[in-house]
Amino acid sequence: MSLHLGDIAPDFQQDSSAGPIQFHEWLGDSWGVLFSHPADFTPVCTTELGLTAKLKNEFAKRNVKVIALSVDPVESHRKWIGDINETQDTQVNFPIIADADRKVSQLYDMIHPEANATLTVRSLFVIDPKKKVRLIITYPASTGRNFDEILRVIDSLQLTDKHSVATPGNWKQGDDVVIVPSLQDPEEIKRRFPAGYTAVKPYLRMTPQPR
Ligand code: BEZ
Repeated sequence: MSLHLGDIAPDFQQDSSAGPIQFHEWLGDSWGVLFSHPADFTPVCTTELGLTAKLKNEFAKRNVKVIALSVDPVESHRKWIGDINETQDTQVNFPIIADADRKVSQLYDMIHPEANATLTVRSLFVIDPKKKVRLIITYPASTGRNFDEILRVIDSLQLTDKHSVATPGNWKQGDDVVIVPSLQDPEEIKRRFPAGYTAVKPYLRMTPQPR
């Protein structure tokens, strides 16, 4: 199944390193990051999962629950978590789905047969509290993800949900943002953006990041 932005993230039940997970129930009212990696006991994945564990507070601050997936069984995940904790100087603090029957991988289109017939690629989905898919990124097996970028996109999504703004290229927390073109009423603009704005072009209006 091919998923698109705005689709409801498919629900599933699957075993994990933290016991059986009913996905939607597990997400509750939080945002979610669901990400796959090719296999346990592989070097790049070991660093990615260590990094994710170290970002626990950053995800918590944003009300985000994180869950990983590979097609290895639970016993393998549990042994590998020991290695991650030891080598990455952290404690894995999120579940790893044991998708040995590839149920979730198929539901989320995480196996790309021309890349690898049986293993998952590095897929990543950001899911909002209404269970809508808000970001889909796919990396090749040989490239570890940049988790600062994942946090940056979550910041942008949460900001744009709250205010009528969009974030420009390379935006980061604190930078100016863009007033969405659909907002044209001068009174509403004044009310929403009391700090004012600069119209570089009629369609490119920059304003300080709303707090
Ligand atoms: C890794 O996860 O370390 C990896 C997976 C596939 C190819 C190269 C590296």
